[in-house]
Amino acid sequence: GAPIEVDLTPIATGQDIKVFWRGKPIYIMNRTKKQIDEARAVPTASLPDPESDQARVKEGHDQWLVVVGICTHLGCIPIAHEGTYDGFFCPCHGSQYDTSGRIRSGPAPTNLPVPPYSFVSDTKIKIG
Ligand code: FES
Repeated sequence: GAPIEVDLTPIATGQDIKVFWRGKPIYIMNRTKKQIDEARAVPTASLPDPESDQARVKEGHDQWLVVVGICTHLGCIPIAHEGTYDGFFCPCHGSQYDTSGRIRSGPAPTNLPVPPYSFVSDTKIKIG
């Protein structure tokens, strides 16, 4: 599939949108400072699938989280801004993801993947 461009300006701080790329739901979340701080406060080595928050976002655009919204357990679509870690909650079997889209508890084995994307400008990304 072709890359898609997404205008970020309608996404207020603390909000998210879902777009589709190659038939997959992609969550784009404009994180609050609290959500970023929460993601960075946890020691990376303690995570089930250890990845730093910094490695999952683009430098200088730290508030933006872009992840594939497909649970890595059995493929359900997690709900944003739900669950214990204020990130994503999968209603199928209870996997809990944090504000970096990393698995924190439940049966999912790995973090929500970050799709290939880049910033075209401060307010626009290209996915794919
Ligand atoms: Fe998400 Fe099983 S598919 S927890």
